[in-house]
Amino acid sequence: MTRVLITSALPYINGVKHLGNLAGSMMPADVFARYKRARGVETLYICATDEHGTPAELAAAAAGQDVATFCAEQHKIQHDLGRRYGLSWDHFGRSSSPQNRALTQRFAQTLWERGFMEERVTQQVYSLADKRFLPDRYVVGTCPHCAYDAARGDQCDNCTRQLDPVDLISPRSSVSGSTEIEIRDAKHLFLKQTAFAPRLQDIINAKKGEWPVLVTSIAQKWLDEGLQDRGITRDLEWGVPVNAADWGPNPQGVRPDAKGLEGKVFYVWFDAPIEYIAATWEWADARAPGGKAADSDWESWWRGPESSDVTYVEFMGKDNVPFHTVGFPCTLIGVNETQNADGTWRLADNAPWKLVDTLKGFNWLDYYGGRFSTTHKRGIFMDTALDLLPADYWRWWLTANTPESSDATFTWEQFQAQVNADLADVLGNFVNRILKFTETRFEGVVPGEGEDGPLEIKLAADVAEKLAELTAMLDAAEMRKACQAVRQLWVLGNQYLTEAAPWTAVKTDRDRAAVAVRTGLNLVALFAKVSEPFIPFAAQAIADGVGESIPGIWPTADTALNLLPAGRPVKAPEVLFRKVEDAQVAEWAERFGGAA
Ligand code: 2FM
Ligand code: ZN
Repeated sequence: MTRVLITSALPYINGVKHLGNLAGSMMPADVFARYKRARGVETLYICATDEHGTPAELAAAAAGQDVATFCAEQHKIQHDLGRRYGLSWDHFGRSSSPQNRALTQRFAQTLWERGFMEERVTQQVYSLADKRFLPDRYVVGTCPHCAYDAARGDQCDNCTRQLDPVDLISPRSSVSGSTEIEIRDAKHLFLKQTAFAPRLQDIINAKKGEWPVLVTSIAQKWLDEGLQDRGITRDLEWGVPVNAADWGPNPQGVRPDAKGLEGKVFYVWFDAPIEYIAATWEWADARAPGGKAADSDWESWWRGPESSDVTYVEFMGKDNVPFHTVGFPCTLIGVNETQNADGTWRLADNAPWKLVDTLKGFNWLDYYGGRFSTTHKRGIFMDTALDLLPADYWRWWLTANTPESSDATFTWEQFQAQVNADLADVLGNFVNRILKFTETRFEGVVPGEGEDGPLEIKLAADVAEKLAELTAMLDAAEMRKACQAVRQLWVLGNQYLTEAAPWTAVKTDRDRAAVAVRTGLNLVALFAKVSEPFIPFAAQAIADGVGESIPGIWPTADTALNLLPAGRPVKAPEVLFRKVEDAQVAEWAERFGGAA
């Protein structure tokens, strides 16, 4: 039996996430984690808030808070929202944790000492009014190509050309609007990503055909365009401080210029993925007596022979793929290995850190064909969505429409049609019908009389087939197809009940009616178990109705229709799913911006 380590891309701290963020990383990761646990696999699902970088500093300033306070509050909000959506993180950490600081600094030091980092002087935009260096996209000005007057320092939104902030005419700070801008020299550390290109190519070659095409093609495009060495330090106050004074010499005997690097922090995209590991350390510390775990408690998930039974699966949106197929692997390979004089590589550490085994990358979820937008208040955010409907409605729709092979679009009309049909008409109606009937005609207990007939034998075969399909799709984390399979199981239940018609049979043949009721109740138990990864709250209510505990054990073809002992009391749950009404859809489309 192997263990499964699951991470979903760390949400930025700068505000509540929209449903697009949920759909393309946290939700599929959660369904997968819940499924694995239900299969009895030792599973660790790790996520965290991504707390560093300029957006965090600016969001804190806009909120009138110091960054640390802002991040602490926002972390709590995101943690609480995740729980309310049923996201079953084993730990939801913080990239600003002491553990991540220690690990990021340790990795950077190793990279320097192995010769994979160097110092370079670069030209950066400095804002006198803001008293800070500005990242490219916080410099705006007139595009030198098309004269658009709000071009950003990294790209012109009008003519789409890539820009350098020094090219802008009349540059100004988008933070303060100030035009008091200078170009200053600044010393930074660069990770020599170019050295890793052949290693990364080997990895991508091995994963072609196994990982989604979306993922390997994005990675291949980056490799084809030629990797660039990447600056991994920034002139910011908030972040993991560069601790270069502690570092030893590189293979050429050179130490970093600690003085020239003072007051700098690591680039947010350097420390964020390291937080996957550090959050596992946070998880172990949080469980350890006295709050201090042994290294082996968390390292056994991540490094060396102790982790050889761990399969590591990452979930993320497509914009994150380059950082996880290039940036993070460069860090880990550089920490694990060293290069021989002839250019070949050898392990430098007898407990190397684990690289990703399966990378699930997703397209975008759009809102009426356009992007969700925080600034234009377009689309639905995690907090407001829960004010409208319970989490399972969102979980179901988002999972059934996971943007796997292409972008997906949310519309209220389609959402209404799908949740009403799948959840209310098919699943809710089935559970309600059979449990109500058991209460009124079978004293609310699982009947024991009667023998299975041809209908039940056919049902068992159909259920076995769909269950196998569902299991295969969940193993592959193919969420749309998994939803189709579970929906088809629910449909089988309805078809069976319509054909077996216990309400008719009970008038003439009580044993036959008893068989149909018993079979129907077992289907209810089956549905609770197999629906749990997708709609855990409703699944719990359904399981309670037939006295089952979930997740329990994942059903097999043999057990699927034999889950309940005769004589067990059962009870219809309160309404499982209320239908979404036309008037609600009209109101919400108006409130959140619809087709127009
Ligand atoms: O794109 C994002 O939302 C990033 N905060 C994802 C970071 S993933 C990981 F590397 F930390
Ligand atoms: Zn332009």
